[in-house]
Amino acid sequence: MLATETWQSELIARLERVMPTVEASMAVPLIEEIRELKRRRGAVVVAHNYQVPQITAGIADFTGDSLAMARFAASTDARTIVVCGVRFMAETAKLLSPDRTVLLPAADAGCSLAESVTAAGVRELRSKHPGIPVVAYVNTSAAVKAEADVCCTSGNAIEIVTALGSPRVIMLPDRYLASFVARHVACEIIAWPGACEVHERFSASDIRPYRDDAVCVLAHPECPPDVQAAADFVGSTAAMIRYLEARRPKRTLLLTECSMADNITVAHPELHFERPCNLCRHMKLVTLERVRAVLLDLNPVVEIDAEVAARARLPLLRMLAS
Ligand code: 13P
Ligand code: SF4
Repeated sequence: MLATETWQSELIARLERVMPTVEASMAVPLIEEIRELKRRRGAVVVAHNYQVPQITAGIADFTGDSLAMARFAASTDARTIVVCGVRFMAETAKLLSPDRTVLLPAADAGCSLAESVTAAGVRELRSKHPGIPVVAYVNTSAAVKAEADVCCTSGNAIEIVTALGSPRVIMLPDRYLASFVARHVACEIIAWPGACEVHERFSASDIRPYRDDAVCVLAHPECPPDVQAAADFVGSTAAMIRYLEARRPKRTLLLTECSMADNITVAHPELHFERPCNLCRHMKLVTLERVRAVLLDLNPVVEIDAEVAARARLPLLRMLAS
């Protein structure tokens, strides 16, 4: 069997774990075309854990949570970075790799958290609480990051807030991540009232039917407090994967975006996931067809106003340095 046929059959065998064989096979010619385009363009594809397996297993050079994606973007030698995720992730990559071409296949992929806060809103909150440090979740626009002291992700928020050593800290824009952090730190948290439209839909009643049934329940810190309180573990998407790889429960309820369970099943078919999960309509705007299009056109590129970028880069670099 030829080497190319080997990777194709191996990929189909992995994708078949979460989709019909015909669907897995139909994706292969486009995946092959994108792999060739990546080589020609000197491009790498970085994907979030919420992307579909055709992207994560088929074309991504790196898949991870927001923190790992930022670290990857800051360290890659590739001249072109394709971000399979939403706009704030592509902006973060551009801020950390300003001399690279950053392509966003879904230029229309927003985020309810990022859209809940503006730079003017941060300035107003700061004026009400002078001298209090501002921690901006990476799920924010570059303009909002430019107003912050340091950034955080769900993977490092507790450590970032603790390291500030301040008796009071402003966290924005997710009120549920802020309440999660508040339960783990000694300082007072002043929270912006934003929420993720995907995670705020979960409630403790989603968990109740599984509670007597030896099902392991994992939740993202963007879930409401009653969900977090009823879960066995709360953490970022990467932390949830590490938890499952270490404990290997037979059945899991994963209270986050649906592609997470599919991606873990592709890697670990012995793990079994219960429903419900929720889809992020923004993440799902990224498709193989749109990735091919950006690699053919080298457009749309992510561009950030130079003055905003210079200020927004600092809180991101402080986060990566801490
Ligand atoms: P993490 O992968 O950093 O946990 O983020 C989840 C998320 O909502 C990204 O949009
Ligand atoms: Fe934004 Fe929530 Fe979608 Fe993540 S899952 S991109 S936080 S809307």
